[in-house]
Amino acid sequence: MGHRRHQDHYGTKAKAAGFAARSVYKLEEIEKRFKIIPRNGRVVDLGCSPGSWTSYVKQVGGPDTKVVGVDLTEVPGYLGHQFVQSIFELDVGAIRDALGGPADLVISDMAPLTTGSRFTDHVRQIELAECARELAAQLLGPGGHFLAKVFEGGEAPDFVTRVRADYGKTKRVKPKATRKESVEFFVLGMGRRR
Ligand SMILES: C[S@@+](CC[C@H](N)C(=O)[O-])C[C@H]1O[C@@H](n2cnc3c(N)ncnc32)[C@H](O)[C@@H]1O
Repeated sequence: MGHRRHQDHYGTKAKAAGFAARSVYKLEEIEKRFKIIPRNGRVVDLGCSPGSWTSYVKQVGGPDTKVVGVDLTEVPGYLGHQFVQSIFELDVGAIRDALGGPADLVISDMAPLTTGSRFTDHVRQIELAECARELAAQLLGPGGHFLAKVFEGGEAPDFVTRVRADYGKTKRVKPKATRKESVEFFVLGMGRRR
């Protein structure tokens, strides 16, 4: 399959299945491999717009899954409780209150607006991922899971090391739905340590 056809395949499939974005297939692949989505649990979706990851989490986790989403952009008809603000300005207590208890899963697909400078984009993306990691450390209950998008670059190995310190098992994953030329990959921490 040619590169462009590969992209179209996931975009068309997402549209036909009623998902707002093709990125849903990255989460789907990770879920099929690692089973991280809780059944009727509590999930935090960082960078939740346009909403496809949240839809998938509800689909897999069941209707009683509580999802709290955060994004700069408002998602109309969001399937959970959304905070329309920057992750850097969040009040952790407010997120905790909206969740109603410790989170089972914190996911972050956040990405900065890319500048074209690979270095700048990498540093900004790591700042987002690091903020997500710190939030996850505060919100997850013991045994909970954390998933974050990262761009390859000089700061990525240290980020993975920091995740490794917090979780029983850590994986680097590059889903098939990620565009081939993309520098992105995902860091998955499973089983938050006490
Ligand atoms: C790739 S999209 C997420 C797609 C989403 N997972 C889905 O499947 O619908 C990345 C999102 O990160 C958000 N984002 C970027 N910087 C952010 C910040 N500082 N705080 C919160 N969200 C941010 C963007 O607004 C954008 O909607």
